[in-house]
Amino acid sequence: TRPKVFVTRAGLPEAGLKLLQDECDVDIWEKTNPIPKSELMARIKNVDGVLCLLTDKIDDEVLNAAGSKLKVIATMSVGVDHLDLKAIKSRNIPIGYTPGVLTDATAELTMALLLATSRRLIEANRAIYKGEWVSWSPTWMTGGKLSGSNIGIVGLGRIGLRVAEYLKGFGVAKILYTSRTEKPTATAIGAVHVDLDTLLRTSDFVIVTTALVPETKELFRKETFEKMKNTAIFINVSRGEVVHQPSLIEALKNNKIRAAGLDVMTPEPIPLDSELLKLDNCVITPHLGSASIETRAEMCVISAKNVLAVLHNKPGEMPAKYNY
Ligand code: GLV
Ligand code: GLV
Repeated sequence: TRPKVFVTRAGLPEAGLKLLQDECDVDIWEKTNPIPKSELMARIKNVDGVLCLLTDKIDDEVLNAAGSKLKVIATMSVGVDHLDLKAIKSRNIPIGYTPGVLTDATAELTMALLLATSRRLIEANRAIYKGEWVSWSPTWMTGGKLSGSNIGIVGLGRIGLRVAEYLKGFGVAKILYTSRTEKPTATAIGAVHVDLDTLLRTSDFVIVTTALVPETKELFRKETFEKMKNTAIFINVSRGEVVHQPSLIEALKNNKIRAAGLDVMTPEPIPLDSELLKLDNCVITPHLGSASIETRAEMCVISAKNVLAVLHNKPGEMPAKYNY
């Protein structure tokens, strides 16, 4: 009999889905919104594998509902903070994820946010439609620039490193970074490993690319923003929970920092009455880091292959197994 696989969302790229459907009985949540937990618990029962997204919380309760046949969890994301790693590990279930293939796309979106915030693209674009473009004016809509600036990358991994590489082409002055260990690949391009306080006090742009883990939850809070330059621009492309959002809003409102560019926030989607949406100095994108067409297709293919490798009893052949 064919293995059973549950896919938690409709509308996944075809290429990956087909790989699964060729070999497995695939059940798919039919809607394009996140599956409610109760539905997930019902549909995951007795499956051999699950392909999930970052919007699906897989915890002890869900794992209990799945039962003992569950052999693999493949998330179509690089982040694994939605997975209860302890509960999954205690059941010896391998996790597949999608690092690497989304590095370029996410680093490109990071560049878009850096440029949009420093050169006030969204604010300036809106000004045209509001009839505020009176004339070319010497200081109207002027902002910062990347060239000659100090960059700080918090939690430098693959994505942070790629951003650093791109920024070299912009002629930045210094690239500082934090990470648990010094990275030879970063040192090789002249980036300097520093402590967080040094990074915060020195940087004109503070870019967050860290994973969300207990040590990085609300790493950015009142005291953190206070250490930053009041001309600094804050960019977050990791997870909203890395930031204590009310403190960020307060810092933006009171010009304790100049601007923020956020691809992630809390909650997602952001409610339309959120203070964040009222700020001219905040550029928001709806969690689109990996959202290039090719990247999303590759993520789906890798996720399918992660599932299939385990169902073939060859976990060693998973294209991307998460080590935990
Ligand atoms: C996106 O946030 C991802 O984790 O892939
Ligand atoms: C994600 O892939 C990272 O390590 O930055």
